[in-house]
Amino acid sequence: MNEFSFLSCSPKETISLAGRLARLLRGGEVIYLLGEMGTGKTLFARGFISSLGFDGYVTSSTFVLQQVYNCDPPVVHLDLYRIEKEEELLDLGWEDFVGEYTMLVEWADRFSHQIPAAHITVSFKAVEEEKRKITIKAIPEYGDIIRRLADDTGN
Ligand SMILES: Nc1ncnc2c1ncn2[C@@H]1O[C@H](COP(=O)(O)OP(=O)(O)O)[C@@H](O)[C@H]1O
Ligand SMILES: [Mg+2]
Repeated sequence: MNEFSFLSCSPKETISLAGRLARLLRGGEVIYLLGEMGTGKTLFARGFISSLGFDGYVTSSTFVLQQVYNCDPPVVHLDLYRIEKEEELLDLGWEDFVGEYTMLVEWADRFSHQIPAAHITVSFKAVEEEKRKITIKAIPEYGDIIRRLADDTGN
């Protein structure tokens, strides 16, 4: 299985799903977080990073653009929403982290040709006020991980 969808009925469920995914991965993966504003991308990133032992505040990178978390495995969180030119994208300095740090990239679809290809893509869609359809797709090498995530999510 390389894809599964989950209906999250609360922010808590989204955080919990993110934590389960984070703990199944080895580290160094490139993860695209896609979907309209306000659908839960940053919340998912928070859940992901917190579950890896980071106990500070995970900021919204819409304002910071790039944040590095020295959790285990380490994470770099990017938000490309406000980036306009490829030059600004490269100035962030994320290239040094590729392969070693897990990359969580909001609005990755704006620059998908300039950044590394995704191992996993997480897409968010608002269904109702507190409901989000979250679809997780992965390259074939991550099929087992997606299956395990789907199994223990039971949805
Ligand atoms: N099931 C849900 N999953 C994720 N977020 C939810 C959910 N229900 C309501 N929300 C709210 O939607 C908002 C998502 O914000 P955020 O994560 O910053 O979105 P994005 O980064 O996609 O712009 C938060 O205010 C969160 O509380
Ligand atoms: Mg965001």
